[in-house]
Amino acid sequence: MSKTTTSMEKVVALCKRRGFIFQSSEIYGGIGGFWDYGPLGVELKRNVRDAWWRDMVTGHDNTLAPEGAPSTFDMVGLESTIIMHPNVWKASGHFDLFYDLFVDCKTCKARFRADHVEGSQCPQKPSKGPGEHDACDLTDPREFNLMFKTFVGALIDPTAEVYLRPETAQGMFVNFKNVLSSSRVKVPFGIAQIGKSFRNEITPRNFTFRSREFEQMEMEFFCSPDSSQDWYTYWRDRRLAWYVSIGLDGENLRLREHGPSERAHYSCGTADIEYAYPFLPEGEFGELEGVSHRGDFDLRSHMEGKLIRDGDELVVEKNEHGQPRHPGSGKDLSYFDDATQTKYVPHVIEPAAGVGRTALALLCEAYDEDAIPDEKGEPQERVVLRLHPRMAPTKAAVFPLVKKDGQPEVAGEITRELRQRWNVFYDEKGSIGKRYRRQDESGTPFCITVDHQTIEDETVTLRERDSTKQTRVKIAELKSILSEHLDP
Ligand code: GAP
Repeated sequence: MSKTTTSMEKVVALCKRRGFIFQSSEIYGGIGGFWDYGPLGVELKRNVRDAWWRDMVTGHDNTLAPEGAPSTFDMVGLESTIIMHPNVWKASGHFDLFYDLFVDCKTCKARFRADHVEGSQCPQKPSKGPGEHDACDLTDPREFNLMFKTFVGALIDPTAEVYLRPETAQGMFVNFKNVLSSSRVKVPFGIAQIGKSFRNEITPRNFTFRSREFEQMEMEFFCSPDSSQDWYTYWRDRRLAWYVSIGLDGENLRLREHGPSERAHYSCGTADIEYAYPFLPEGEFGELEGVSHRGDFDLRSHMEGKLIRDGDELVVEKNEHGQPRHPGSGKDLSYFDDATQTKYVPHVIEPAAGVGRTALALLCEAYDEDAIPDEKGEPQERVVLRLHPRMAPTKAAVFPLVKKDGQPEVAGEITRELRQRWNVFYDEKGSIGKRYRRQDESGTPFCITVDHQTIEDETVTLRERDSTKQTRVKIAELKSILSEHLDP
């Protein structure tokens, strides 16, 4: 189904109906920008995370340079805390610069992101844009820091103020030396982390796309300044290929290099991997992942203090006393390269992805409607989630055709056997057609049906979700057939 004809409302309705995504605290009216993942959603997200972690960390071979990579490299993982020392965010620049501009309406008290005023809706009736009613009274744009603030300890005063991290990346930068000294890694190497981040978005919107609590998959790749441009190209292309490998279509996916004016002040190159989400107008794409060449900005900031651009240079920002406005740690985060006998501050390439945005793109891509013949040969419309088998929350569903004649017992045995490796669902209630439809909507790639013939010859029907083709296979062969499609 073309993405222009997939309606977002249908995807959202399916997510609720089948237990992928619910509004947080729904029974209390919900809370904007927060989403819960239901029984199927939690499995989908786990599959996204596992695929990323395997691709980045556990599946990485540090003895061979992958195709396109300038050399071999090491990869390790990390889990840092959500609340960090407040100086981390001062040195990184988030305290001063991580804000959006917003506009308030003094009449109706609505708040809009300044860059979203056009295209937003004023809450007053009749339906018009902000500023278009006579009574509208919009303020000038004002700054709003996106970091959530809280307090550590019993004191509720400015000395106890801390922030929920708005990105996982800083955990990797401040642990650069710890990782280097505690593991056998050498530059070039990457530190990967998956975890929750929080941003007090002014206008959370488009289902889970812009949430206030979300999960990131970030990797900070430390390399020598000389090779950094080649590593940037390598990671940009490799990350794009990963999305194709988990089932996103080439047409709906694109890589977009930022022009110099769009880049952050420290960036030496940034590319977004984007997806044509169906809530966007035709021809528009939304960010799935950003891949940035960050130069030595991050490690230098945490050594020297908050950096600002001065012409071609990044220099420490000074206060009125000539001291660093936000001092760094003062620790030496440079690296001595044994091979070249040189000392340098490593450059960083950062692929930064969202678990929720990836899951949402997979759901939008997979949503389809078609018509298949029912038991009497009459065409029946169905909704089917054509998820890549590795991403599917449930890998197979096992059904006894009837609830007697020993069929439930055999189906139970098959389920127990397959569950040792995969998430497998057992269902004995309702007509077989309805059971198939429910699994089609859940994205389950295979259904296995036990019938009277099974009791005679130990074969079952294996039904494939996308084609609905049914084949007779031996119970003993099920594991190897499924493994072909489900294992990386
Ligand atoms: N450390 C760099 C960084 O955080 P980013 O582009 O702001 O870069 C990286 O975020 C990824 O995190 C985005 O590409 C997106 O997938 C996800 N993300 C960012 N803000 C989000 C939000 N409000 N809701 C959902 N996902 C978000």
